[in-house]
Amino acid sequence: MINISETEVHKLSEKYGSPLFFVSADKVRENLKAFESSFCDKYPKITVAYSYKVNFLPEVLKTIHNQGAWAEVASGFEFEIAKRVGLPGEAIIFNGPFKTKEELKKAIKERALINVDHFDEITQLEEIAKESGKTIDIGIRLNMEVGIDQLPDRFGFNLESGEALQVVTRCLEKGLLNIIGIHVHLTSYIVEKESEDNIPAKGIKLIWPKDHKAYRKASEKIVQFANEIREEYGINIKYLDMGGGFPTVEGISPYVDAIVEPILEGSKHGELPTLILEPGRAVVSDAADLITTIVAKKELPGGQRAIVVDAGVNILPTSFWKFQEVQCFNTSDTKLEETIIYGPLCLQTDIIAKTKLPELKTGDRLLVKDVGAYNIPQSSTFIYSQPAVLLLDGQDAVLIKKREEVDDIF
Ligand SMILES: Cc1ncc(COP(=O)(O)O)c(C=O)c1O
Repeated sequence: MINISETEVHKLSEKYGSPLFFVSADKVRENLKAFESSFCDKYPKITVAYSYKVNFLPEVLKTIHNQGAWAEVASGFEFEIAKRVGLPGEAIIFNGPFKTKEELKKAIKERALINVDHFDEITQLEEIAKESGKTIDIGIRLNMEVGIDQLPDRFGFNLESGEALQVVTRCLEKGLLNIIGIHVHLTSYIVEKESEDNIPAKGIKLIWPKDHKAYRKASEKIVQFANEIREEYGINIKYLDMGGGFPTVEGISPYVDAIVEPILEGSKHGELPTLILEPGRAVVSDAADLITTIVAKKELPGGQRAIVVDAGVNILPTSFWKFQEVQCFNTSDTKLEETIIYGPLCLQTDIIAKTKLPELKTGDRLLVKDVGAYNIPQSSTFIYSQPAVLLLDGQDAVLIKKREEVDDIF
């Protein structure tokens, strides 16, 4: 959570317009440091790679990389962004289900870590290895049963079905790819299986944060798999990448133990692998808030109080999954009333939050809290344009993304 006064909110929105995102560089740094040290305290070989998809504003990325974190990218597009902010290839982890041959070649040349998602990618990499006459080091993404009753995991090779072992034997037989890492990502949110038919609109039950026991299961399973393939085939796994999906840094401790303990226990007789973590939300979620302004007050049929604000689901798309936390500055009025907060879009489902608020008037400003994860990169220009983003760094407020204008459409 960012501390900002009402006066400051007014000043910023007068200058840059409303709605307005602002990101606290200090909070990003604080989160990253706390995340990293909670793992470093328990395990000696940690690499943190920030997940780009969560918020890839270049100034935010630079703040993160200046702290020494690597990049986790899930496309060639994100790979290019990482290069453009000055990151060397060796500090990039290249994930994702679609990587073109050219992108793979570049990643190999730049010595990025590549986590392979499926057999077609294996084929592509084998072709590259043949063409270049050099074996290629790869990580393989695995999915497995960890006690989460969720939608089928579409990413990586399944462990229980024997698919994971098939990749290993294929790589050994062909001698073109060298498996050096194992990757798991237990999804960011868990979407319950029963609600599959309802996706992607209503009636979805999200479970977040997920139980740390799922991480323990995953950690145990991949350590066991790494040990099996070492003993059976002499494969030396250099890194275990446990992905992201972590809660805020305040609640991270049980997740650290759940991941680290099985690795320490299972690696007693060999060299410890590097443990890679790919946090996104935990680094940026509570490092950004949004200023919005009340543009209308309404009473709905049935008498329910509603307000319309100038920030819609086009710029806060996570509202489709979970209502936002909204804070007002009128704290003296203790008479709170259930209020629906609508965005300005001509769309029935443009609902940001349902929450208890005091009496408010048109023109009042509100703060939408903790919106730094998954909103800005998934924003769209739908009916309204996308707002400006400010980076608050110490005493400075720097414009890092300008408000979208009609000119930008042309
Ligand atoms: C492979 C991978 N790593 C890391 C993340 C980041 O997840 P989170 O923001 O929940 O930490 C994601 C998000 O979906 C992902 O797909």
